[in-house]
Amino acid sequence: MAVEAAMPGAGAGWRDWPLRLRDRLLGDPQFRRLAAKFPLTRPIARRRTRALFDLCAGFVYSQVLLACVRSRLFDALRDGPQTLEALSRHCALPGEGMLRLLRAAIALKLVARRRGERFGLGSLGAAMVRNPGVAAMVEHHALLYADLQDPLALLRGETAQASALSRFWGYSRAADPGDLSSERVAAYSALMGESQALVAAEVLDAYPLTRHRHLLDIGGGDGSFIVAAAARATGLHFTLFDLPAVAEQAGKRFAAVGIADRTITVGGDFHRDPLPTGADLITLVRVVHDHDDPAALSLLRAVHDALPSGGQLLLAEPMADTPGATAMGDAYFGFYLLALGQGRPRSRAELSEMLRQAGFTAIRHVASATPLLVGLLIAERERC
Ligand SMILES: C[S@@+](CC[C@H](N)C(=O)[O-])C[C@H]1O[C@@H](n2cnc3c(N)ncnc32)[C@H](O)[C@@H]1O
Repeated sequence: MAVEAAMPGAGAGWRDWPLRLRDRLLGDPQFRRLAAKFPLTRPIARRRTRALFDLCAGFVYSQVLLACVRSRLFDALRDGPQTLEALSRHCALPGEGMLRLLRAAIALKLVARRRGERFGLGSLGAAMVRNPGVAAMVEHHALLYADLQDPLALLRGETAQASALSRFWGYSRAADPGDLSSERVAAYSALMGESQALVAAEVLDAYPLTRHRHLLDIGGGDGSFIVAAAARATGLHFTLFDLPAVAEQAGKRFAAVGIADRTITVGGDFHRDPLPTGADLITLVRVVHDHDDPAALSLLRAVHDALPSGGQLLLAEPMADTPGATAMGDAYFGFYLLALGQGRPRSRAELSEMLRQAGFTAIRHVASATPLLVGLLIAERERC
């Protein structure tokens, strides 16, 4: 993508002067000192200082959260407040280390002080309870953390060996992903399965499936999305398409939960193999952003061609430029996918344009309850 196209308005000249003035003032240490003292600007100056400090210290906060997850602190607090001694025993940490972790966790709203020298869940810690998807992602971030040690080398494409993330997601840059063994796909399929419960609830709340008869989930992973959909739409039939080793696991899962009679699993490589036909709804959940533009566009074209006239595509994934969650898109996923070695976060507008290029019509956005988790687009194969 051309840099100018990615940054509209670059070089807009005289219209930039208010921002240039602001930048000059904020870049002046004397102005910053005055702003911090003057009563009217003090709250703004403090807010900015705090926001900048949080950016500098974010990696420490993440490690505090990792320590809470690894020591199973939230499990210990799930049924009520505990003393320092009890927590120390549960988390297998010495008293001093436990107290330091608790103080850090209190500052981050993960833990809260309670009466009687006890500690309970904080407002953010409470959301970590019975939320295995988030805990699994926190653990998984150890790989990303290692890959981001030298961000400039990543940006220059200079990393000598394969990143930890590309080894984890075996299909990234694989010459023949269809050959991946079940061992190579097990860890990423389990991670996706853990976090799928939240995503599936968002998607299915936003887009009820009742008007459809057959859903094909492409890159459907361990089948968690189909299992959730099958519970809501009892008359619906399903096909899951994924790499052979992944599809095989999903098939076993469908048998175990008792929906084998209305599911088919098909193993293949969507970059090479034909997609199954016969479904009136195709879903791509957290799949497109993993792929570079040419591969993503050819996948969308193949999906279009696999649909009948009037058939629909539901594309669901976290999207760049999401109002209120822009850091999640271009900052978090921008760097996550850079470390992965392929793909990029795309905005709703960019995805809509790709859908148009792939031949889709009637492209529309469907509002989800938590757009930070997942954004939704519906597109249709033209009726003839
Ligand atoms: C990020 S995971 C998403 C899984 C699932 N849709 C979810 O949201 O939990 C991407 C999925 O696409 C599958 N995939 C990647 N490349 C593929 C290919 N070339 N052909 C078929 N499936 C592929 C992976 O095996 C994986 O299950």
